[in-house]
Amino acid sequence: MSVFRIEGGHPLTGTVRTQGAKNSVLPILAATLLSPGESVIHNCPRLTDVEYTLEILRRLGCRAEREGETVTVSAAAPTEWEIPDDLMREMRSSVIFLGAILGRMGRAELSYPGGCELGPRPIDLHLSALRALGAEIDERGGRLSCRGALTGADITLALPSVGATENIMLAAVRAEGITSITNAAREPEIVDLQNFLNALGAEVQGAGSSVITIRGGRPLHGGEHTVIGDRIAAATWLSAVAAAGGEARITGVDWRHLSTVTAVLSEAGCKIESAPNIIAIRAPERLRAVRPIRTAPYPGFPTDAQAIMMAALCTAEGATVFAENIFDSRYRHVDELVRMGADIRVEGKVAVVYGVPRLFGAQVTAADLRGGAALAVAALGAEGETILSGLRHVRRGYADLPADLRALGASVTEEEFRDS
Ligand code: EPZ
Repeated sequence: MSVFRIEGGHPLTGTVRTQGAKNSVLPILAATLLSPGESVIHNCPRLTDVEYTLEILRRLGCRAEREGETVTVSAAAPTEWEIPDDLMREMRSSVIFLGAILGRMGRAELSYPGGCELGPRPIDLHLSALRALGAEIDERGGRLSCRGALTGADITLALPSVGATENIMLAAVRAEGITSITNAAREPEIVDLQNFLNALGAEVQGAGSSVITIRGGRPLHGGEHTVIGDRIAAATWLSAVAAAGGEARITGVDWRHLSTVTAVLSEAGCKIESAPNIIAIRAPERLRAVRPIRTAPYPGFPTDAQAIMMAALCTAEGATVFAENIFDSRYRHVDELVRMGADIRVEGKVAVVYGVPRLFGAQVTAADLRGGAALAVAALGAEGETILSGLRHVRRGYADLPADLRALGASVTEEEFRDS
């Protein structure tokens, strides 16, 4: 099996460019289905989730080609409206195609996206919103069959779901009339999707605020777009420097997109300087514990950065309380951090991290994407060598984690490993 071998205990130094945002490029690729023209997407990271998404587009009858970090999609005449089960199983976030397929084809079929490593992942808000737009949705035998011409509607979300907001935006672009989304998610990735949809000739406004308005039914053409930097990947590099010590520059990301993360790192004693497209960080000798970290919808502290920040604070002076308010089961990295010498107690959605003087390298396994990244962060600050397995999770969100960490001077290699 492939593993990352990480030699810890050395301060980091260097500059790393942040990859394009995974959670922006996935809905944007789904959006290419809405237009009969050709779309060119730049800064498209090489992630397994992106490759699965390109494969779904091909199975729907689109042409989707990659050249370096540029992907070209032509959806002149899609022929299918069913998301293949094998790809749905590989990537539950394929549900984001539902609105786009329904909008373009007038019908859509997919198997119910199950839960994932983070716990149950319901889509009730997606389905009730699409029904409000006029879709007839039949839920039988674990499958969803949707059909209907869509018309604009005023939709209020019970909670600011990222995926539901995106699915409604995609469907509403092809619905006759005006759609409003109240209590919409406000993530930067939603703004990026709005900008791409408008580049196709759609008329979407309000993304980034809690109310988004879409004037649907306009003719769409091809478009060109550069995806924003990945704020969670950037948070990963910053947390790695905080954990291992040293200093670094992170480029290719808008510092405002992760200001809750940099605020925590500053409170923990890091020196952070932010400028357009660059974040510079210098770590202290030892981090200090911070006030409770509560994950929340944007612009709150991102749930996707919870594990990586916890990894950095394992060796801080003092105790830090985490409250994971978004997902039911997002502490699966805790047991592995404890195997490295961390002192963490979990009670329901609360985790208390008691700082210890140091962590020690160990053989650890990633149970989910950001938990895997957290173990790499912890390994960089630990004494000795760590063997990290479970790389299929990590590859979903990081194009080349070892290369990016080596750009910061880390000793990380990927190799075949036979369990001793
Ligand atoms: C997106 O997931 C991201 N994924 C997640 O990133 C991220 O953690 C999450 O947003 C929150 O920021 C992508 O963008 C591909 P939600 P999504 O709908 O859309 C509940 C990563 O590591 N909910 O905002 O699925 C849900 O159970 C991934 O990159 C309902 O109850 O998140 C959760 O508790 C992990 N009913 C909360 O809302 C619904 O119909 C937030 O979910 C939909 C969601």
